Amino acid sequence: VSPPAPAAQTGKPPLLVAVAWPYANGPLHLGHVAGSLLPPDIFRRAMRMRGHDARMVSGSDCHGTPILLKAEKEGKTPAEVVAFYNAEHKESLRRLSIGFDLFTATTTDNHRKWVQEIFLACREAGYIETRTQKAPYDEKAKRFLPDRYVEGTCPHCKTPGARGDQCDSCGKTLDPQELVGPVSKLNPGSPVTFRDTEHFFFLLSKLQPDLERYVAATAGHWRANTINFTQNWLKDGLQDRAITRDLTWGVPIPAIPGSAKDYSDKCIYVWFEAVCGYLTASIEWAQGQGKPEEWTRFWTDPKARGYYFLGKDNIPFHTIIWPGILIAYNKARAKRGQPLLNLPYDVPANEFLNLSGLKFSKSQGVGIGVQEVLDRFQADAVRYYLSINMPEQKDADWTWEDFQSKVNDELVGALGNLVHRVLSFTKQNVGAIPAAPPASDPFDRKVTDAIAACGDDMGLHLDSVQLRPGMRRLMDLAIQGNAWMQDAKPWATIKTDRTAAEANLHSLLRLIKALSVYMAPYLPTAADQAWRMLGESGSVHDQPWSAAQAPLQAGHKLDDPKALFVKLDPADIAKLAGPAATNEPQPAPSSQKQASAPSAGSAAAPAGAAASPTTITIDEFQRVNLRLAVVKSVDAHPKADKLYVLKLDVGDLGERQVVAGLKAHYTPAELVGKTVAFVANLQPAMLRGVESQGMVLAGDDGTVVSVLEAARRLPPGSRIR
Ligand code: MF3
Ligand code: ZN
Repeated sequence: VSPPAPAAQTGKPPLLVAVAWPYANGPLHLGHVAGSLLPPDIFRRAMRMRGHDARMVSGSDCHGTPILLKAEKEGKTPAEVVAFYNAEHKESLRRLSIGFDLFTATTTDNHRKWVQEIFLACREAGYIETRTQKAPYDEKAKRFLPDRYVEGTCPHCKTPGARGDQCDSCGKTLDPQELVGPVSKLNPGSPVTFRDTEHFFFLLSKLQPDLERYVAATAGHWRANTINFTQNWLKDGLQDRAITRDLTWGVPIPAIPGSAKDYSDKCIYVWFEAVCGYLTASIEWAQGQGKPEEWTRFWTDPKARGYYFLGKDNIPFHTIIWPGILIAYNKARAKRGQPLLNLPYDVPANEFLNLSGLKFSKSQGVGIGVQEVLDRFQADAVRYYLSINMPEQKDADWTWEDFQSKVNDELVGALGNLVHRVLSFTKQNVGAIPAAPPASDPFDRKVTDAIAACGDDMGLHLDSVQLRPGMRRLMDLAIQGNAWMQDAKPWATIKTDRTAAEANLHSLLRLIKALSVYMAPYLPTAADQAWRMLGESGSVHDQPWSAAQAPLQAGHKLDDPKALFVKLDPADIAKLAGPAATNEPQPAPSSQKQASAPSAGSAAAPAGAAASPTTITIDEFQRVNLRLAVVKSVDAHPKADKLYVLKLDVGDLGERQVVAGLKAHYTPAELVGKTVAFVANLQPAMLRGVESQGMVLAGDDGTVVSVLEAARRLPPGSRIR
């Protein structure tokens, strides 16, 4: 997607629209879109129309353990994984009309070269130094292990299988040293010792005063959550942080001047280098334009502003770490007489989008893939719902019911309807855009004033990155427009006073022109369609904001209008909405029942037997997300002697933990490696303090329990139907 050229130079500051780099370890889901991808696209489109040169860059975050874990799970190389998901992300973005000036990846030579330069410069300025620390070491593999590759018993809740970074059972964060009986996850059973290893540290503590000054000078216009997260970090006192890891997948540590040490088995920590991507991508973009210095307009012009869009879990990396890196780098640049780089001007962080209360998350398998939604619904419909329901100030819920009603009642019922009825009525009864009424016409005055007021209000919202209220303001104008059409009754007046009817239609067509301009940032496809139906030339996306108030092409012959939006079909909704996603009552398996009975039949029987009819439709059956899953590990439940805690690989749904009453019937060894039938969309339940995220199916005759296995070899995640 090649976005339009910037609006004419207006003296307004150039804007860098920087977007948090999604990890290339899974498909994009709606949580990414609502949280960090759609808001910047709306913003950059709006800012271009408002006269800024706004450039949007990002790319795939390709390094770090999230990628390595995925590669390991899929039996692929990290390079294969990131190439696949980088392409998937680009395709999802294209289908959503999210247009980056550059969407690259952290695997480029350009990125590596600049990250190494920044690393060395920060070191030269005295903000990076080496320290020796103890790290977990796999004695068989003869290598250091990332924290989460170490497993052992949790010192707090005594659950076996806790990871070196966190215990999933009690939720406490851990250091690998705290684990009892640490073993390697790479070589199951291989003992882990702790050996000295040298790492580079970023001296954040030394930057505390600079960062406090930066935040005090800048945070005035930040959102409350951005300020709060940042202030809390500062209040706790900044800690020096290790910024290298014992890994070889990543940006290599550059040769250190004056040192002969070999760091070839280490690389730069993913968070240190990924945030540098905002700069490296800007440089790559400029090179791609054939104007290699062009990036400096966004980085070294003190008037230029950087807006960083991200989800709230990323805030401190963008308000502390990245500004800290830039401050340190700038000290080196100042010494060399190079111009200083701009620190973030605003960091509009969004809260989370929840799917019926569950956080969108790849690792939990909770989420709605962008592609599956776009296979059924218009991108503008998805963009509308995510805008009107944007988690800007607080978490928001995606519910399928609400999606359906917001799209059908507002987008189709108000906005689409107004455009369609005005255009089709005019086409049928006049055939062309009628002449403008005199300026004194009261109806025209009213419409003209409303157009101007909406443009002003939306402008203020957009300039201050309040995108949800901006969308609301636009929809309210469309609702108002329908009321005016109702008042004007052109279908009656066309017979009694054609001049008056045509005058009113002209005013209403002007309203549609204004709406097409105002909706352009939010609903780019529909906006352009409305623009062209009015006979306007070029693309609405190349217009200035003031085009909303420009005159119409009176006399332009109208074509039959096409609907901008289609109503959502409840059947399509039902196909995507699992039981967890609707508010309909569902047979809720009592957690105790689910725990003691491994099979679906016995779990559902008490709730379902009396109430439900004896047959169900195929659609009802298909609401159960049945998958094949491979049993990865089996551990005793820490607090219940009949229960196991199983870890399952469910392919694209990731890893799931399930509590099952199988202990009396199977040894762990009998279960590990089996490919079993699994209900993936059962509401999660806490079973004696351990979360169960689904159910393994089994048959039983009251005595013997038999887990259902696939008769042929199929990959984990395969659908059962
Ligand atoms: N990949 C990270 C995430 O998904 C975000 C990285 S933002 C960057 O949480 F700036 F560091 F790239
Ligand atoms: Zn624990």
